[in-house]
Amino acid sequence: MSIKPAAKIIGSGVGLPQKILTNFDLEKMVDTSDEWIRTRTGIETRYIVQDGQCTSDLGTEAAMNALKDAHIKAKEVDLIIFATITGDVGFPAAAVFVQKNIGAHHAAAFDIQATCTGFIYGLEMADALIATGRAKTVLLIGGETLSRITDYRDRNTCVLFGDGAGAVVLQPSDDERGVLATFTRSDGRLHKLLMMEGMGTKNPPHSENYHEKMQYIQMEGRDVFKHAVTCMGDAAELILEKAGLTCKDVDLLIPHQANIRIIDATAKRIKMPPEKVFINVNKYGNTSAASIPLAIDEARKSGRLQPGDVAVLVAFGGGFTWGSAAVRF
Ligand code: UT7
Repeated sequence: MSIKPAAKIIGSGVGLPQKILTNFDLEKMVDTSDEWIRTRTGIETRYIVQDGQCTSDLGTEAAMNALKDAHIKAKEVDLIIFATITGDVGFPAAAVFVQKNIGAHHAAAFDIQATCTGFIYGLEMADALIATGRAKTVLLIGGETLSRITDYRDRNTCVLFGDGAGAVVLQPSDDERGVLATFTRSDGRLHKLLMMEGMGTKNPPHSENYHEKMQYIQMEGRDVFKHAVTCMGDAAELILEKAGLTCKDVDLLIPHQANIRIIDATAKRIKMPPEKVFINVNKYGNTSAASIPLAIDEARKSGRLQPGDVAVLVAFGGGFTWGSAAVRF
C-alpha cells in the first residue's frame, strides 16, 4: 500500500557563519588533541558566529535561500516554525525576527524547543497542519548558535558543538513525493543528563543561587551516548515499519550529526550500507536542531538526494527527545 503524502519539501537552504574553528584551534584552548576529537567524534571543524550575530540572522539567511530554491515569495508563507534552543532573546521567538527580516507579513511564526530533535518535531507539525488544510506554505527552520552556550574551558563539551541554520519550504503534495511518516517521543525523566540549567525561571541569572556554569551546556557524555544509540536505532527501525519500507527502499539515511560512532551504530541497526549514510559531522560538529536541515540541503545540492529518492531522518537530543521521519524528495 503506497502512502499519499500530505506535504512535500519543495526547497531548502542554509545560513552559516564565516568563522571556522578547527580542532587545532581547540588544542590551544583546552587540554585536547585533533586525534582525540577525530577518533572519538569524527569532528574536524565547526562554524562559529561572530560578535553580534544571532540565531535569527543565520535562520534568515537559510530561509531566504530556501525560498529562492523553492521559487516562493516571502508573502506566500503562512507559517514559520523555527526549531531552536538558542533563540535571540528570552522572548519573542526567533521565528518572528525571521518573519520581519524576510517580510513574510502574512505568516504566523513561533519557535519549538525540542533540542536536537527539533527539526523532526517541526516537520511532523508542518505536515499535520498542511494535511488538515490549516497551512499551505510552511517555512521550517532549524538553527542554533550553540557557541553562545558552550563553555570553552570545558573539553568535555567545547569540542562538540557548532553554529548554523538550515531551512526547508513545505507545500501540499500533489504527487508521490512528500512526508511519508513521522515519529516523535520524549522522556523527561532523563533531563539531567543533558541540559542548560540557567537562564530560565528556575535559575534566573540574578538569583543568588545562580552560578556561572548554569549558562552553559552540561552533559554526561557517556550516558547520553548510550541512550542516543538505542533511541536512534529504535526510531529508525520504527519509521521503516510505519512507512511500510525496508532498508532496501531507502536511498539515504540522514541521522542527526552528533558523533560518527552514533551515526555508524544507527546505520548498522537498520542495515544501511555506508554509501547510503549521509555524514557531514566532520565539517559542522553537532549543530543540534540545524543538523538535519543542513544535511538535507547539502544532500540535495550535491546530488546525493535525487527527486523521487526516499530518505530516513533520525535524531536524538536533550530532554530526552528523539524522533524520525521518512520522506520522498
Ligand atoms: O546531540 C545529541 C546529544 N549529544 C550526543 O549525542 C553526544 C553523546 N556523547 C558523545 O558523543 C561522547 O560520549 C563524547 C564524544 C562526548 C565523549 O566520548 P567518550 O568516548 O564517551 O569519552 P568519555 O566521556 O568516556 O571520556 C573518555 C576520556 C576521559 O578521560 P579518562 O577519565 O578516561 O582519563 C575524558 O576526560 O576522554 C577524556 N576526554 C577528552 N580527552 C581529550 C573527554 N573529552 C576530551 C577531549 N579531549 N575533548
